[in-house]
Amino acid sequence: MRLLVTGLVLILMGCKQVVKPPPLELKMAKAVDVHSFATEEALVTHVSLNLEADFEEHVLKGTALLSINKSADAKHLVLDTLDLEIEKVLDQEGHELSFSLENPHEIFGQALKIELLPKTNKVMVHYQTSPTAQGLQWLSPAQTAGKKHPYLFSQGEAILTRTWIPLQDSPSVRVSYDAKITVPDSLRALMSAEDLTPEGEKNGKTKVFSFSLKEKIPSYLIALAVGDLAYQELGPRTGVYTEPAMLKEAAHDFADTEKMVEAVEEMFGPYRWGRFDILLLPPSFPFGGMENPRLTFISPTVLTGDRSLNYIIAHELAHSWSGNLVTNATWSDFWLNEGVTTYIERRIIEKLYGRDLYEMQVAMGRDQLLQELEEVGPDSWLARLYAECPDKDPDEAMTGIPYEKGSLFLRTLENAVGRETFDIFIRNYFDAHAFGNMSTKQFLSLVRQDLLHGDKALADSLELDTWVYKGGVPSSAIKEQASAFVRVESEVRGFLDHGNLEPLHKYGTMEWVYFLRQLPRNLVSEQMKRMDDAFKLSEIRNAEIRFEWLRLGIATAHEPARRSVAAFLTSQGRRKFVKPLYEDLLKSEWVTLAKDIFKEAKPMYHSMTNMTVDALFDKGQQ
Ligand code: BES
Ligand code: ZN
Repeated sequence: MRLLVTGLVLILMGCKQVVKPPPLELKMAKAVDVHSFATEEALVTHVSLNLEADFEEHVLKGTALLSINKSADAKHLVLDTLDLEIEKVLDQEGHELSFSLENPHEIFGQALKIELLPKTNKVMVHYQTSPTAQGLQWLSPAQTAGKKHPYLFSQGEAILTRTWIPLQDSPSVRVSYDAKITVPDSLRALMSAEDLTPEGEKNGKTKVFSFSLKEKIPSYLIALAVGDLAYQELGPRTGVYTEPAMLKEAAHDFADTEKMVEAVEEMFGPYRWGRFDILLLPPSFPFGGMENPRLTFISPTVLTGDRSLNYIIAHELAHSWSGNLVTNATWSDFWLNEGVTTYIERRIIEKLYGRDLYEMQVAMGRDQLLQELEEVGPDSWLARLYAECPDKDPDEAMTGIPYEKGSLFLRTLENAVGRETFDIFIRNYFDAHAFGNMSTKQFLSLVRQDLLHGDKALADSLELDTWVYKGGVPSSAIKEQASAFVRVESEVRGFLDHGNLEPLHKYGTMEWVYFLRQLPRNLVSEQMKRMDDAFKLSEIRNAEIRFEWLRLGIATAHEPARRSVAAFLTSQGRRKFVKPLYEDLLKSEWVTLAKDIFKEAKPMYHSMTNMTVDALFDKGQQ
C-alpha cells in the first residue's frame, strides 16, 4: 500500500526511472506493496459492479460499489486508478463524499482519496474508463474469427485492473465480487465468476448479464470478456467458450481438461472454485494463458490439432491452487505464483501423459533457465527468486526465471525428502493458506519447519537462502536428464555431420522444439532448404515449432522465413513469440521488414505487447 510489491510490474512495464512516494507499510500483509496507493485504514472487502460496455466509444461506464472494513478512526479510503474518469462518489445512504485524485504517476496511476463520513461502510464510485485503458482491449469485428461482431477482454495482472475498476489493486487485498454487465444484445458477457444468467436478460437493444464470486480473490483476477461466444461442455465441471467458428476445434484440443482437474485434486487437494471453464480468445491475447478463476483465458496459439501444447491448460489450472488460492504477497514474491505452478503443471503432465514428456518439459525448462540466467547475468536482481526490482529501467519483460528456477527449487526439495512427503507438505500448504497470501520469507520458514522438521543440516545442504536471495543456480540443484533429448542431441549431430533427417519423422512437439534450439545459427541455405522441404516448417501451424524455426530462419536469412515471419507476427500477438522475433529481426539484415510488419500488426496487438515492442524499437534507435 504503498503495499509491498516491487518486482513484476516494473519488470512488465519496464523499470522506468520514476519518483515514487515512500512506501507505506501494510501491517496485515506483513510486507510493503510499493505498487499500490492503498492504505490500511480502510480496506475493500467486496466489489459490486454495474457497468455498460459501450462499443462505439470503447468505454465501460457505470458504478463500483465497494464494501469496506475500516479502523475506528479511519478518515479516508484510498484506491488505485489509472486513466479513469471519476464523476462522483456517494456513500451507502447517498451522501456525496469529497474526493481527490492525487498526483499522477506514469506506471502506478493516481490515488483516489475519498473522505469517509463516520457512518460510511460502503462507497459508490460513478466512473468511466478511458478508450485507451491498458487493461482492456476492444477489438473490431475484423479482428475476430467471425468478422461480424466486436469483442472486448480484460487483462488485470499485474496492476492493470485499476485501469477499469477503481479499487485497491494489490495482490494482498482480497475481495469477493458481483457484477451486472450491460452489452449489445447480440453479444454475451463472461466473467471470472459464477454466471447467474447464461442467456442474459433482454432490455431493449441490450442484454444484462449477472455474475457473482463468493470466494475472495486479489484484484488482478477480476476478469471480463464480451463477444459472440458459444459454449461446449467438456466434462461435469469443465467446458470451453469461444467464438462459434473456433468451438469445435477448441473442444477437440481441450478434451483432457476434466482429467487434469481430477489429477491435481488427487495430488494436492480439492478444486475449490466450482467450475473450471476455458475461454479461448482472439489471437491478440498477449499471453499463452491467464488463470482467471472459474474462467481461464487461453491464447488460440495453443491450438495445434494434436493437443501437444495443452501443458498450458495444465499450467493455468495449477494456478487454481498456486496463485489463486495461495497468492504471492507482493509482486517480488511472483515466483510463489509461477514457480509452484510450473512445478504442478509438470506433475499433471507426468500423471496424464507419462514420464517421458515430464522429463522433456523439465529438461527444456532447465535449458531455458540457464540461457536466461546467462543473458541477465548472475548479479542481476532478475536472477533471484525473491526479485526486488531496483529503481532503474532494465526494461526487461517478464522472464522465465521465476518459473524455471522456482520449479527447479521445488523439484530439489522433492528429491531431498521424497515425493510422498513432499506432496503431503504441498497439500497441507494449500489447505492451511487457502484464500490467503504468502511471502517468500514465510514460505522458507514453512519449508524449514513443516518439510524439513527443523533438520538444520539438511536445510543447510539445500542452501535455502541461496536459492531464494542469490542469482544463479545453487550447486544443490537436482541434476535431471531427459533420455529422449540425449537421443535428439545425437540426431542433431546426425543432421549436421551426415545430413540425416530420417529420425525427425517421429518427432513430437517437444523433440522438434529441442532439435531446432540445438542447431547452430550458421546453417547454410542448403541445410535450411532441406529441412523446410521435408517438413514444411515455414508453414507449420504449431506455434512453438513455428517460433523456433523462424528464429533459425531469421538468423540464416532463409528466404521463405521472410513471408512466414510476417504472417506469424501479423496473425497473433502473444508476447512470448512476438518479442524475441522482433529482437531477432532488428539484429538481422531484415530490419526494414521488422518495421513494416510492426506497422501492420500494431493496431491488432494488445497494449502490453505494444509497449514491449515499442521499447525494442526505441532501444534500436539509440
Ligand atoms: N499468470 C501468467 C501470465 C501473466 C504473468 C500475466 C505476469 C501478466 C503478468 C500465466 O499463468 C502464465 O504464466 N502464462 C504463460 C504460460 C505458461 C505455460 C508458462 C504464458 O503466457 O506464456
Ligand atoms: Zn502462470
